[in-house]
Parts: sequence; structure tokens; C-alpha cells
Amino acid sequence: MSLLDEQRAYYEARAGEYDEWWYRQGRYALAPDERERWLTAVAFAERTLDEFRPSGDVLEFACGTGLWTRHLARHAGTVLAVDASPAMIDCNRARRLGDHVRYRQADIFAWAPRRPPSTWSSSATGCRMFQPSSSQRSGTRSPRRSGRADESS
Ligand SMILES: C[S@@+](CC[C@H](N)C(=O)[O-])C[C@H]1O[C@@H](n2cnc3c(N)ncnc32)[C@H](O)[C@@H]1O
Repeated sequence: MSLLDEQRAYYEARAGEYDEWWYRQGRYALAPDERERWLTAVAFAERTLDEFRPSGDVLEFACGTGLWTRHLARHAGTVLAVDASPAMIDCNRARRLGDHVRYRQADIFAWAPRRPPSTWSSSATGCRMFQPSSSQRSGTRSPRRSGRADESS
């Protein structure tokens, strides 16, 4: 099994407990001061995303359970949320974020959007957002960082 296969399998198996980890509940509980630091960092990332105001057609890579999709969905005209894991997409879909949020199960290393979005978002334990330059909009297959960018992680 390749490293990427392993990574996909790992997240597929972990989807059901991912939010428990994110909210530091149950076996992921932190000491009060660590929890405070974590919540402060999350609040900063969420504020940064709100200030960025990701409008237009937003493509979210590795959307997971939707912890960031829900914020993108508040600003974007449309969101296309892509993830390799069907279980992660099921959790995300269960949030019922609206008809303007669509899902695609795909390996982001192999998939290319038919129509370039106006904003890309990719997040792991934080959030990265960047808008493609005009040359990227007109045909580049994968995003590189340029144009307006806000990051927090
Ligand atoms: C650390 S989780 C982050 C989820 C979400 N972005 C968040 O911050 O809550 C990583 C996500 O990447 C997805 N993923 C891993 N490898 C992938 C790949 N090759 N193509 C698409 N998604 C992938 C996993 O299924 C998982 O949902």
C-alpha cells in the first residue's frame, strides 16, 4: 500500500471520530490550559476565514467532515467540496449546508476541476485560502499560491 493509499484509508476509518478529536472531547480531551490554546487558535482561524470572505465558486480540497465547509458555505455562491473518503463526505453532507454545497469523492492528486473556481480552499487542522491569478483561472490544472492569500494554521 502506498503512503497516499494509507492516508486515504486512515481518514476513511477515522471519519466517525474526527469531530470528537476536533472538539477535544472524550479520549481527545485536553488539560484546561491546552484546550484554551486550541480554542483560541481555532477562533483565530475562523475569524481569518470570515475576514477573507470566500465568495464566488469555492473549491474546497479535502473537505473532511465539514468543519470548514460550514464556514465557506456562509460566504460562497457555490462550494464544491472534494474528499477521497466517502465516510468523511457522508459526515459533511449530514450537516445539510444547503443546495449550493456539492460534493465530489475524488483523489485530489488525480482530479482536475472542469471549470476553475474563483477561490480555492484547502485545510488540514487549519485553513488555507487563496484566489487564483487570471492565468491560473484560464487553465492551470492545479493551484499554486499567488494572488490574494490568507493563511492560518
Ligand atoms: C486532517 S483531515 C482534514 C479535514 C478538513 N479539511 C478539516 O480541516 O476539518 C484530512 C482530509 O483529507 C482527506 N484526504 C486525504 N488524502 C486525500 C486525497 N488524496 N484526496 C482527497 N482527499 C484526501 C481525508 O479523507 C480527510 O478528510
